[in-house]
Amino acid sequence: MTDVEKRQDRSPVPQGWTYAPAPESTDVVRLQDRYELYVGGEWLTAKEHFTTISPRDEAPLAEVAQASEADVHQAVASARDAFQTWSKLPGSERAKYMFRIARILAERSREFAVLESLNGGKPIKESRDVDLPLAAAHFFYYAGWADKLEYAFPNRTPKPLGVAGQIIPWNFPLLMLAWKIAPALAAGNTVVLKPAETTPLTALLFCDVLRQAELPPGVVNIVTGDGSTGAALVDADVDKIAFTGSTEVGKAIQRRLAGTGKKLTLELGGKAANIVFDDCAIDQAVEGIVNGIYFNQGHVCCAGSRLLVQESIYEPVIEKLKQRMATLRVGDPLDKNTDVGAINSREQLNRIEELVAAGTAEGAEIYQPPCKLPEQGYWFAPTVFTNVAQSYRIAQEEIFGPVLSVLTFRTPDEAVEKANNTPYGLSAGVWTEKGSRILWMAQHLRAGVVWANTFNRFDPTSPFGGYKESGFGREGGLHGMEPYLDFA
Ligand code: NAI
Ligand code: MG
Repeated sequence: MTDVEKRQDRSPVPQGWTYAPAPESTDVVRLQDRYELYVGGEWLTAKEHFTTISPRDEAPLAEVAQASEADVHQAVASARDAFQTWSKLPGSERAKYMFRIARILAERSREFAVLESLNGGKPIKESRDVDLPLAAAHFFYYAGWADKLEYAFPNRTPKPLGVAGQIIPWNFPLLMLAWKIAPALAAGNTVVLKPAETTPLTALLFCDVLRQAELPPGVVNIVTGDGSTGAALVDADVDKIAFTGSTEVGKAIQRRLAGTGKKLTLELGGKAANIVFDDCAIDQAVEGIVNGIYFNQGHVCCAGSRLLVQESIYEPVIEKLKQRMATLRVGDPLDKNTDVGAINSREQLNRIEELVAAGTAEGAEIYQPPCKLPEQGYWFAPTVFTNVAQSYRIAQEEIFGPVLSVLTFRTPDEAVEKANNTPYGLSAGVWTEKGSRILWMAQHLRAGVVWANTFNRFDPTSPFGGYKESGFGREGGLHGMEPYLDFA
C-alpha cells in the first residue's frame, strides 16, 4: 500500500499504475508473399509489383500488383460482362450474396481487424470496435434494400447504372470499401474498386470473402496500384466514378469527367469546427474534442480539427484537454490499450510535420504531452495549437493528423461565422445544453453532418457527405443508393 496516496476523505488512489503491454496476436493473419489483381473472380498476374509495409515499424508485409491501363480495362470488361446477369437477378437474390458477405465479415472480423491495423497503423481497438462492425453493418443494411428499390423510390422506376469505378483512400480502407461496394451491389451494379496504395491488404483479403460467399465472377473486381491506376479507371469504360480522397485529386477527376456523361460522386477533405458553448457538460465535451481529433490519428475527413471554444470557459477547457491528452497512449497499433497508433505513411508524416512547423512559424503556441514515440515507423504526438488566428495555415488547411487548432468566440453568430470560414463543409460538432441552440446552429452551419453533444458517430442508415470543397453526393442511408441508380 506504499504507492497509494491518501486524498483527504476520498478513497485512496493508486499512483503510477501503467498499462502492461497487451499485444494482439498476428497469428490469425496469413499473408501471401505476393498478391495479384482480382479480375473476373480469378487472380490476374500483373507485370509490376510494389511492396506494402507496416507503418508501425516499416517492415515489409507483401508484394502487391501495380495494375496497368490494360489490366484496368480487362477488369472493367469483366465487370461489364457480369453486369448482364447480375443486374437481372431478383433483388432478393442479390441480397442473399450481400447478407453472406456481411456475415462472413463479422465471422472473420478479428483477422480483418488485425490486418487493418498492421497495414494502416490504426489502433486495434478502433479497427476491432469501429471499422469492422461498421463495414459488416453496411453490407447488412444495403442488403435489406436490394429487393425494395421500388418502394425506396416510389414512382421513379430505379435502374442500375452499369459498371461503377470506385477509388478509395487509406484512412478507413475496409470501411470505405464497404461504403462503396454495398450500395453499388444492392442497386444492381457491378464494380471495379481501387484501394489506396499504402493500404491494399484488407481489400485483397476481402476477395477471399467474395469467394466464400460465391459471388458470381466479375461482379466485384479489385485492382491495386497507385494514382495512375486510379486515373486509368476514371478514363475507362465505366458508368460512374465514386471517389474518396484529397480535394486536389477530386477536382482533377471532375475536370476529367466533365462532358463524358459518366456520373460522379466526390467525398473530399474537411476542416470541421467542433464548437463548445459555456453551458455544455465540460468533461463530456473534452472527451468529444479528443475523440474528434485523435481518433484514427486524425486521419479522418470529418475530424474536428478546429476547436471553437466560448471565451468564458476557455481556460478550464484547455486545462482539462491538456490533462486528458497526457493520458493518451501512443504506440503499437496492435496493442489493445493503444489510443493513438502510427501515422499511415512517410508522405503523410511529412505533410503533418510541414503544417505543424508552419503553425509555429506563424505564431501559434504548441503543446504536446510528454510521450515516448517508438524509434521505428511513423509517429506524431497528439498536438494542440492555441493562439491560432483564422488566417493561419493550420486553421485553413486539412492537416489529416493528430493536430488540433484552437480558436475562441463570444456569441453564437461569431461561432457560426468562424466555423463557416473554410473552403470545406463536411462536418461540425456543437456542445451545449440548449436544444434550441443546437437546432439554430445546425441550420446555420454549412456542413453536411452536424453532431450535437457527440462526434464522429456513424451509422449505415445515416447519410454522410459534404458541401463546397468537401465534395458532393451522399453515402449511407437511402441517399447513398441514389447515386448508383438511374431513374426513368
Ligand atoms: P489522394 O487523393 O492522392 O489518394 C486517394 C486515392 O486516390 C488513392 O487511392 C490514390 O491512389 C487515388 N489517386 C491519386 N491520384 C489519382 C488520380 N489522378 N486519379 C484517380 N485516382 C487517384 O490522397 P493522398 O495523396 O493519399 O493524401 C493527400 C491528402 O489528401 C491528405 O493529407 C489528406 O489531407 C487528404 N485526404 C483526404 C481523405 C478523405 O477521406 N477525405 C482521404 C485521403 C487523403
Ligand atoms: Mg495523392
